[in-house]
Amino acid sequence: MTPDVQLNPSAAVRTEARRDAFASNLGAFAATVGSAIGLGNIWKFPYLTGSNGGAAFVLTYLLAVALVGVPVMVVEHAIGRRMRLDAVRAYGRAVPGQPFWAAIGWAGFVSAVFIMAFYTDVAGWVFAYVFKSAAALRTGAPLTSATFGALAGGTWEPLLWQALVTVLTCWIIATGVSKGIERVTKTLMPVLFTLLLVCDVRALTLPGAAHGVAYLFRPDLSKLTASVLLAALGLAFFKLSLGMGTMTTYGSYLPDQTRIVPNAARVALADTLVSLLAGLAIFPTVFAFGGTPAGGPGLLFNTIPLVFSRMPAGGLFTFLFFVLSAIATIGAMVSLMEVPVAWFVEKGHLRRPAAAIVTAAIMFALGVLATLSQSPVLADVKLFGKTFFDLFDFASSNVLLPVGGVAIAIVGGWLVSRRSFVEEMDRGYASAPRYERPLYALIRYVAPVLILLILLNSLGVIRLA
Ligand code: PFF
Repeated sequence: MTPDVQLNPSAAVRTEARRDAFASNLGAFAATVGSAIGLGNIWKFPYLTGSNGGAAFVLTYLLAVALVGVPVMVVEHAIGRRMRLDAVRAYGRAVPGQPFWAAIGWAGFVSAVFIMAFYTDVAGWVFAYVFKSAAALRTGAPLTSATFGALAGGTWEPLLWQALVTVLTCWIIATGVSKGIERVTKTLMPVLFTLLLVCDVRALTLPGAAHGVAYLFRPDLSKLTASVLLAALGLAFFKLSLGMGTMTTYGSYLPDQTRIVPNAARVALADTLVSLLAGLAIFPTVFAFGGTPAGGPGLLFNTIPLVFSRMPAGGLFTFLFFVLSAIATIGAMVSLMEVPVAWFVEKGHLRRPAAAIVTAAIMFALGVLATLSQSPVLADVKLFGKTFFDLFDFASSNVLLPVGGVAIAIVGGWLVSRRSFVEEMDRGYASAPRYERPLYALIRYVAPVLILLILLNSLGVIRLA
């Protein structure tokens, strides 16, 4: 076992990094939730649930959040706060003499670029829908699946929206107005939550809604396959922004009095609730209108206008829904882009605007490939049997983030001393809280073993399902 000194950064490091921090426990919670909640809840969770057979996927996902997601978030926050450094330096210094672990931060850099490539494509669709739903309000012409097909399968239109979203995020990062955005996101998040509830009430009172609820909550375990397990695990990482250093960076801004474990548990709970609310709006609607749950990436865009179309002032609600989603999307994109930008500023010594432009350019270059792979231009170009869009998604969520997660759990559970790790995890309590031992066991044994089993299973090395 390595000595305690490992998780004890120098006083100079602690004061240097103190400059930037969340002001309160509530601020820390809101910022963490702000990074977690995004397209993952309203777009990816429903779409993956639909294409992976429903409730068996949801159940696996919930287990992955509890047994792997929360423990890994605790490690990221504890190491981040203890070291008060960006992710690359934090892992490098937590395990001194073994620079290999700084690779967690490097892998996070690659993950951020891959995720942004397809995230900006989907965010572009959301922004386009703000305008399309406003136009539909004026003209009375409904938004149909043909509307979505023409948008996502087009060439210039989705590229223009993607460029707009990228420039907007770049501008926010470059000018440092993220504080304002954070405030807006924080205020509007409860509004999005309320709107989802309205949506749920309408969806759940549609004829045949029960099929949708059963689809979401009555698991058919025969549906569990290697790829379903891996998709659920990957979604847990993607959803909670884990395995790539984002939460380590956020941990470095956590105030000393924040209790890391209850904070992580609340974030996971709030985030999961939003995903389930989105599922409860979408699946009853799919069944009520005779659609197919495996509708793919277009599921959100095809069902939300439908559910609202059955309500008074439905057009207005559709418009509001996409405006709020667009705002939630910006918060997540800013936190994603911050990973490479921070590195370009700190290590590359670029000024912030230059760092933002370079990052945006790299992301957009890959983003063009992701977007055009949905249109006839690149639809037939496949790498490893996947289109660019699917490849960036798969490589980040199903490979890079889980591998980063194993490495992070190993650092927290094995490579730094138990005493200093637990001290950071329990900060804010007078004596050891009851969850200390079981949670440490999850970090040390359960999380890394589960992730490895699921990865080996998906490679066909072992057979779980
Ligand atoms: N958690 C975000 C979502 O679910 O939409 C996506 C995300 C944001 C992933 C930030 C990773 C990250 F660092």
